[in-house]
Amino acid sequence: MISRALEPLVPFWPGSGLSVVFLGSNMCSQRWEWCLALEFLMLPHLFLATSIQDHSEHPVTAISGSNVSLQISSLPANYKQLTWLYTTNQKILEWESNRTNFFKSKFKDRVRLNQSHALCIYNVQKEDSSTYILRVLDESGTEKDWHISLEVHDPVPKPDIEIRKTQKVNNGCHLQLSCMIPNQSINYTWYGDSGPFSTGLQNFVLEITVEPQNYSKFYTCQASNPVSSKNDTVYFTLPCQLARSSGVAWIATWLMVMVPIVPGLIWT
Ligand SMILES: *[C@@H]1O[C@H](CO)[C@@H](O)[C@H](O)[C@H]1NC(C)=O
Ligand SMILES: *[C@@H]1O[C@H](CO)[C@@H](O)[C@H](O)[C@H]1NC(C)=O
Ligand SMILES: *[C@@H]1O[C@H](CO)[C@@H](O)[C@H](O)[C@H]1NC(C)=O
Ligand SMILES: *[C@@H]1O[C@H](CO)[C@@H](O)[C@H](O)[C@H]1NC(C)=O
Repeated sequence: MISRALEPLVPFWPGSGLSVVFLGSNMCSQRWEWCLALEFLMLPHLFLATSIQDHSEHPVTAISGSNVSLQISSLPANYKQLTWLYTTNQKILEWESNRTNFFKSKFKDRVRLNQSHALCIYNVQKEDSSTYILRVLDESGTEKDWHISLEVHDPVPKPDIEIRKTQKVNNGCHLQLSCMIPNQSINYTWYGDSGPFSTGLQNFVLEITVEPQNYSKFYTCQASNPVSSKNDTVYFTLPCQLARSSGVAWIATWLMVMVPIVPGLIWT
């Protein structure tokens, strides 16, 4: 068991420069399962080590269906071979002495290497979101990895404000509006005519009490993700009424103004 515990737990971690990890026999002398458990516990540390030794570019954010190019900014001047990988184990293409070989992958007909050796991907989809690795073999035979992550988002759908509650309380009006878009990672911002409310970005509900001196003529919910944003608005009229379109609100206001005026017109 002890000799087993001294075997490398992670025999080879590609590109990390950290190829062998030993655990002392005292850490791992119980059962082999323990070693496996420890291996998982240690993985985050390995990733940490990896990111220190490798080079990371800023993440690239893209909208589904667009074309992106993953560009590494500081490549060495001379290199013999260049490989683009999807995660650590799937090769996409390899460039060597001016020839590019494409590997069988889900990218096969959607990728190209441009002149500065950026990886161009056409028609990106959400499933393409991942970390891409550029592995460069330089003249001296040293391998270096660059990591660049791609985040692909669908455009947000148009939100639809649900009026959950309008309730008259004393002099004011209690409102509860909801703007949830299911199954998507979205930030919500609520606006009134004096600017955004501080509901917090994950909050799709706006619950407020307004009074004649501080109501807003409209309430807008803006749904956004890093690539797009859409909004919906409802319109408020005193004392406690909400409408989907400003037209209705305008007619309501107009009626409130006209009702006292019309008899006045008739009687004069
Ligand atoms: C992506 O590139 C292809 C091929 O060059 C082109 O036909 C297409 O219009 C581009 N798509 C977008 C969204 O730019
Ligand atoms: C409006 O004013 C009332 C009374 O001051 C207060 O309770 C309420 O929170 C205010 N509403 C908003 C949306 O600021
Ligand atoms: C929500 O907003 C936070 C803070 O601005 C941002 O980091 C995060 O990426 C946003 N999430 C989405 C889904 O847009
Ligand atoms: C709401 O969307 C419209 C376009 O659909 C845009 O002109 C407006 O600025 C947006 N408003 C907010 C508060 O995001």
